[in-house]
Amino acid sequence: MEKLYIVYPEEIGQINPNIYGHFAEHIGGVFYDGLWVGKDSKVENINGFRKEIIDKLKKINPPIIRWPGGCFAETYDWKDGIGEDRPTRINWWTNTDNRYESNQVGTHEFVELCELVGAEPYFAANITSTTPLEIRDWIDYCTSPKDSTTLAKLREKNGRPEPFNVKYWGIGNENWGGGGNMTPKTYAHEYRKYAIIAKNAYLNSILIACGPNDVNYNWTQEFMDVFQSSSKAMNGFSLHYYTSVENADDPTNFSKDEWYKMIGKSLKIEEIIERHYSIIKGYGMEDYAKLVVDEWGCWHPSGSGPSKGYNLYEQQSTIRDAMVSAATLNIFNNHCDKVMMANVAQLANNLHCLFLASGENCIATPTYHVFDMYKEHQGAKAVKTICDSKNVGSGEFDVPQISVSASQKDGYTTLTIANLSADEDANITLEPVGQNLCGEATATVLTHDNYHAHNTFESPENVTPYSEEVDILSTITIKKASIVSIKIKHN
Ligand code: AHR
Repeated sequence: MEKLYIVYPEEIGQINPNIYGHFAEHIGGVFYDGLWVGKDSKVENINGFRKEIIDKLKKINPPIIRWPGGCFAETYDWKDGIGEDRPTRINWWTNTDNRYESNQVGTHEFVELCELVGAEPYFAANITSTTPLEIRDWIDYCTSPKDSTTLAKLREKNGRPEPFNVKYWGIGNENWGGGGNMTPKTYAHEYRKYAIIAKNAYLNSILIACGPNDVNYNWTQEFMDVFQSSSKAMNGFSLHYYTSVENADDPTNFSKDEWYKMIGKSLKIEEIIERHYSIIKGYGMEDYAKLVVDEWGCWHPSGSGPSKGYNLYEQQSTIRDAMVSAATLNIFNNHCDKVMMANVAQLANNLHCLFLASGENCIATPTYHVFDMYKEHQGAKAVKTICDSKNVGSGEFDVPQISVSASQKDGYTTLTIANLSADEDANITLEPVGQNLCGEATATVLTHDNYHAHNTFESPENVTPYSEEVDILSTITIKKASIVSIKIKHN
């Protein structure tokens, strides 16, 4: 029997809704035949966007969507994606998948997608194959009032008199790699240059600098070294963290050892957040550089998705990927004083996606259901939890059996628990400290007897949540390989 304390007097902070953000890049099948089917398609659509995805996305309250890359951003010319005659270009990924960018989806279409689902757009700007004037012009096009500048008039000519008011701007993507292969010091100088122009072009802009990959603490340190003496035009510092298991080939047919390895690796993000953040604090930069984990998720080998490899990086998602989602989101909630945004990579037909779609077919993955089950955390106050759970798994990748986070809002507590064991159920008693709770509550449960379970076009609801009443004053059983979300009324 495990005891799970919810320590109400110890508030961690407010969970920024943007922690439940998404990422959609022009890569493989994310847009074309995924989110976008075109206005003339026989697939039901709203102005070209797949209606089924729009409807499902709305249900999970997506706060923000990052676009157009990823690596794609660093060779993207925003002017290719406006107006009637749009050029076809090679893109960042053409050499990998032999596909060209038709630019059917550009600034207007992407912002319309955001508006349809109620999300803020977050643009990642090219700083590698362009100049600061280009980002100044894109900001002008997106934010200048009707009838003001020449670019505002061009926007109106293209069908949108009122500004898009895009607030979130990423200054480059992975500039330690695909984005110019820079050193941290070189990037920091570039950032200072671009950011001062971008901030001045739109004072409401929220600017995000390219931070490190994974455990590259040196990047954070050297960047902060150069940044600290600048005008400090920065509101967030990105971090990318993908989880993979070496030599694993099939994300739907892994060993139990690989179950624990994948989950164990995903949990490392906690230490990574703490260490990067402590460097930022060491420079006194925490007011400028809260973390934006704008790419995260499992990265399996390509080819397991419905397109069988045609869509670059498209992968199937099992209940194991849902466990990674649940545990990662718990970590973000528990560190919401350090993390201001996170964007799971990616929305459709790609890594750790929420949707798999092609032609008339469209399914939600187990990860989609986790975002649905966790949505009550958005904007709530995170409170500390302590669970004396044992470790499970074997050898190098022992993991704590229970991953948990809790938050309170409007007289309710939302408690999200993942039992990371593929072998054993967990029996838990709740110990609220400083708050009385009603005994009866509704729990939503996502689980499956087979830990390889996933959804397919043929069997779209194989992994789908169910609801049950629970008495939280007695022992709660959290089944092995399950995620449970409980909304509890305060007394
Ligand atoms: O998500 C796929 C790619 O992974 C992105 O384009 C890049 O930023 C990262 O390396």
